[in-house]
Amino acid sequence: MQAIQAAPHPNLAQAPAARAAEHIEVRPATPDDIAAMQTLINGFAAQNRMLFRSKTELTEFLHEYLVCTVEDRLAGVCGLHPVAGGLAEVCGLAVADDAGGRGIGSRLVEGCVDRARQLEIAKVYTLTLVPGFFEKLGFVRVDKSTLHLKVWYECYRCPKFANCDEIAMVRPLDLDDRADVPTHGMSARASGGEGPA
Ligand SMILES: CC(C)(COP(=O)(O)OP(=O)(O)OC[C@H]1O[C@@H](n2cnc3c(N)ncnc32)[C@H](O)[C@@H]1OP(=O)(O)O)[C@@H](O)C(=O)NCCC(=O)NCCS
Repeated sequence: MQAIQAAPHPNLAQAPAARAAEHIEVRPATPDDIAAMQTLINGFAAQNRMLFRSKTELTEFLHEYLVCTVEDRLAGVCGLHPVAGGLAEVCGLAVADDAGGRGIGSRLVEGCVDRARQLEIAKVYTLTLVPGFFEKLGFVRVDKSTLHLKVWYECYRCPKFANCDEIAMVRPLDLDDRADVPTHGMSARASGGEGPA
């Protein structure tokens, strides 16, 4: 499967020589990645930092995920889930603790943004506990109430449902004039329903 070429992050350029020589690749997830994806995501879910994912869910929505490998070891994962016309969620972002601070999270998000552009999605959003990270990637904080109702498609499964502490952020993709289309009231172009995050 073809690897996705994501722009190198400055953190990698500043890495020590041993790290700089490492082979880091962002590519579409494959069935062989599922077990490691689940371990990574559910490790953070156990700390209440993201939602748990079952093997069944990861298998069903595998086509939505990118993974990042360092020397063939899975070090990060991120998904892009279309929820309604012109809008898609950057979801399920997780980077292994011992691989953090090397631009992997940034590469994964930019890979998902590239995918969104290919799908002619006008705006991506995320619900996050790490707004500072997403701000560095061009996302801006928005009032949750301004988002399309479909973005709440799986909040019912979140243990923090009644006391949501996640911050809503969006990044318009400058496709053309569609980038300014409001998120409310869009007709569904991509499928909604149950999906990953
Ligand atoms: C948040 C996370 C994805 C960052 O991944 P990473 O590979 O370490 O991030 P990068 O190396 O690409 O960092 C890019 C920039 O964001 C900054 N950054 C990283 N984590 C940050 C955080 N939690 N808060 C603020 N800024 C952060 C980095 O310092 C870096 O800044 P720089 O460009 O000025 O050097 C990773 O720590 C993680 O998986 N956390 C646990 C799960 C989680 O919170 N996922 C997000 C759910 S929405």
